[in-house]
Amino acid sequence: MTHTRATDTTPRFVFLNGEFKPIDRACVPVLDRGFIFGDAVYEVIPVYNGRLFRLSQHLARLHDSLSAIHLDNPHDEQGWKSLLAELIDRNAAHEGSVYVQVTRGVAARDHAFPLDVPPTIFAMWTPKSPPPQSMYEDGVAALTQEDIRWRHCHIKSTSLLANVLARQYANEKACYEAILIRDGIVTEGAASNVFAVTATGLVTPPKGPALLAGITRDFVLELAHAHDIAASEQALSEQALRAAVEIWLTSSTREIVPVTRLDGRPVGDGRPGALWQRMHALFREFKTHYGVTANIA
Ligand code: PDD
Repeated sequence: MTHTRATDTTPRFVFLNGEFKPIDRACVPVLDRGFIFGDAVYEVIPVYNGRLFRLSQHLARLHDSLSAIHLDNPHDEQGWKSLLAELIDRNAAHEGSVYVQVTRGVAARDHAFPLDVPPTIFAMWTPKSPPPQSMYEDGVAALTQEDIRWRHCHIKSTSLLANVLARQYANEKACYEAILIRDGIVTEGAASNVFAVTATGLVTPPKGPALLAGITRDFVLELAHAHDIAASEQALSEQALRAAVEIWLTSSTREIVPVTRLDGRPVGDGRPGALWQRMHALFREFKTHYGVTANIA
């Protein structure tokens, strides 16, 4: 392609409402409903070796989130794919993630939907920030917190105040993540899904309105299946979480993170567990070849 590319010394290009522009020149009006009401949905899509990972699945989830908030999808799958391919190309993107957000657009402030207002469409490239070395070597600390969120957590909405407060509280207590619990049952992390190795094996809570259907979560289940590691989607009680010998957090940005302390107590022997080591190695192996070797999804 012949367009201008960002370099290490020029600002990154973002996509905003049909145009690619340097990030410092991209502005949204203050009456945008994303700003005023959090009336918007989003996606975070990993990029490995310059290739968007599980793009169709992320676009399908974006479509579902848009439908759930009664907002027409502004692009079909091919439209999104070409837009994001150009974003990757303009930023010479290699390893990191793409953020996509669609808001209900700009209108006088009123809770009910405005009529005939075009959505605001935004996409940006974020290079991977290297995780602290200890994250995968020693694991992270997490704490449990009551899940006070609304009952539509399957929608990937930008209205993330409860998640923001949960993560902030965890960070203030020197923890990486808050694991949310509703009525004695684990839902998910503030920005991750939860897996645990319990008496019944590797378990993750089933999909439903209580949690976001993580794309990484699905991939980990697929990896488990492909390598004869027994894994099940079933309710995970707070009690089972506390007795678990391994706990993992999955997300598009940090992949699979081992939790080695929960509420100040060691998980298992307090070291990243054997099953995590195996799954982490499988994920790493997959990533190395992703986009480099043909015939992989
Ligand atoms: N969040 N649950 C919540 C509440 C999340 O915010 C996320 C990811 C996940 C994991 O989903 P996935 O595997 O598709 O990334 C689960 C992204 C990374 C974020 O908000 O930055």
